[in-house]
Amino acid sequence: MKIIESPAEMQRFSESARLAGGRIALVPTMGYLHEGHLSLMREGRRRASVLVASLFVNPTQFGPREDLDSYPRDMERDCRLMETVAVDVLFAPQASAMYPPGAQTWVEVTELTRDLCGASRPGHFRGVTTVVAKLFNIVKPHYALFGAKDYQQLCAVRQMVRDLNFDVEIVPMPTVREEDGLAMSSRNSYLSAAERTAALSLSRALQAACKAFAHGERGAGRLAQIARLELERMGGVAVEYVEVRDAVDLREIATVQAPAVVAIAARVGRTRLIDNMVLGGAE
Ligand code: PAJ
Repeated sequence: MKIIESPAEMQRFSESARLAGGRIALVPTMGYLHEGHLSLMREGRRRASVLVASLFVNPTQFGPREDLDSYPRDMERDCRLMETVAVDVLFAPQASAMYPPGAQTWVEVTELTRDLCGASRPGHFRGVTTVVAKLFNIVKPHYALFGAKDYQQLCAVRQMVRDLNFDVEIVPMPTVREEDGLAMSSRNSYLSAAERTAALSLSRALQAACKAFAHGERGAGRLAQIARLELERMGGVAVEYVEVRDAVDLREIATVQAPAVVAIAARVGRTRLIDNMVLGGAE
């Protein structure tokens, strides 16, 4: 696996890969890899002749009181894992190379990022779409793979690609879970044993909503209430939001007629976790 730190060198590499007829897949990550990340990389490997993964803990998507400094990092282990899924190039820039002094351009998706996680993390999605736009310009991928685990992020990236005519196919990938249902996340490493147990309430709450939907419940408010009750039943979880939204544009709905997403954000101890499931659709 080749490791590239310089954006200019990454651009030169990708340009010559394209000229040689290569198809490039990109998997953007912040590292501390788990099976969720690796599933994206395997699908990228299947689709493209050149598989690029990026590892960059992007400072602009963290708020001032968030976990930028404590975000888990283990580059050596990440490299070993990337080798196992045959990543060709790891793009791992320094923050100073991605954001040289004087940078003043942002990419912002407005409506889609206002609610849900956007409400409690102002500036977060602006940081995400800005760094993803930069990664697209640096890596020049034909495909970019994103997990449905970060559902609002996936929607925002799709919207950005459409609005700004990026010539990239966004490939959504299903959420990979632990055997007991907990959605895999680098931040799960923050959880104590008791918190790890409490965190199961998120996937259980989503399953409860899915079950009610399967039994014919279509009221968005009632489905959200079913999820909320299950989420709060065991204790140890501070709910930030439980919402049922349109699965495509995340707008509020009263009844589920087209695919909808049940989305949850909650704190378990000091750790903020998110999870979601789609009702009546493929994703
Ligand atoms: P990170 O949290 O490292 O996630 C990288 C990619 O892996 C994202 O597309 C995310 O949705 C996906 N992913 C995470 N957990 C997953 C799981 N359990 N199942 C399937 N996919 C999963 O998301 C980011 O980094 C950043 O915001 C980034 C897009 C890299 C921009 O900085």
